[in-house]
Amino acid sequence: MAKYQIAWIPGDGIGVDVMDAARIVLDALKLDAEYVPADIGWEFWCKEGEALPERTVKILRECTCGLFGAITSKPKDEAAKELAPELQDKGFSYRSPIVRLRQIFDLYTNLRPCKAFPGNPLNYKEDIDLVVFRENTEGLYSGVEFHPLPDEVRSALVDFSPAMSRFDSIPASEIAVSLRVITKTGAERIVRQAFEYARKFGYPTVTLVEKPNVLRETSGLMTRQAREIAVDYADIELWETNIDAQMMWLLKNPTDYGVLVTSNMFGDILSDLAAQLVGGLGFASSGNIGDSFAVFEPTHGSAPKYAGQYKVNPTAMLLAVKLMLDWLGESGMAENLEQAIRKVIAAGEIRTYDMGGSNSTLDVANAIVAQL
Ligand code: IPM
Ligand code: MG
Repeated sequence: MAKYQIAWIPGDGIGVDVMDAARIVLDALKLDAEYVPADIGWEFWCKEGEALPERTVKILRECTCGLFGAITSKPKDEAAKELAPELQDKGFSYRSPIVRLRQIFDLYTNLRPCKAFPGNPLNYKEDIDLVVFRENTEGLYSGVEFHPLPDEVRSALVDFSPAMSRFDSIPASEIAVSLRVITKTGAERIVRQAFEYARKFGYPTVTLVEKPNVLRETSGLMTRQAREIAVDYADIELWETNIDAQMMWLLKNPTDYGVLVTSNMFGDILSDLAAQLVGGLGFASSGNIGDSFAVFEPTHGSAPKYAGQYKVNPTAMLLAVKLMLDWLGESGMAENLEQAIRKVIAAGEIRTYDMGGSNSTLDVANAIVAQL
């Protein structure tokens, strides 16, 4: 039996293209792994009313970790329209399968490194080296949402303070609520991961990006926990910023920052900006990491219009493979892969369209293999 069982979850759209690139590289690295295919994505939503079939969750439970491509996700009503006719109006409701995977497997750390590789014409500035730690299971992604508004939720709103009596007369169908849930444990564990990473890799600061002046309770809890944890890391400075100002400062002074830690939704937004600073989503990888299981993925979506054209940049996917190798403890292979990616970017000969080139997804993978 192979040393690792890796759930192979391409999903749909260009998820398939970039996973093919990942396979070329993994085969060249000779990772001692068995790749176990698992269904996920839009096709299964349309055919089965379930984008994340139970059989996939079962496969994942038996694997060492998962490697995931991308999936199309659409708002609830648009998703419902695309269900097979026999599944229409049967109460199926679309929820993003990757968000669910993060919750089912308690993959509470979303690690998103954004490094400017020398020679990438898309870098906003050289020397950018940002690592976003995004809390991955709660916050505005808790999944606790209401529409139409149930009576008991309305009562809770109206009773909250006299100013809330304005919600009293709004029809239930005309008001929706999404709940931002932060727990002490959730805050603690993501902040601790950020500090541990900063210490391990020598970052002098950890920046907590929240909005405690307005979100007094949820961001307030994050801030209190961060201050408490920072005491254990005397060698690392805790900076506290507000999400809005941080977006501006990242554009202005991106090299001032290193490790950034934040809640789920802010991390979603912040990590797209950080990705753009180092060349866009084609360069942004993610690790969804829990205590004993993890799923690695590129941060980009499924870009259906490019599906199957082998046109998109596989670098984000290959950097996700690098994160996976690190997590598996295969640090030699991880380092080797990152160096090979660096060399290909620096040489500038093989480039996909986003970098101004005309090479294919698989050309890039093969060029990286040649450098391994
Ligand atoms: C990401 C993506 C997902 C998210 C989508 C596809 C649900 O934007 O991984 O950043 O919002 O987390
Ligand atoms: Mg996102």
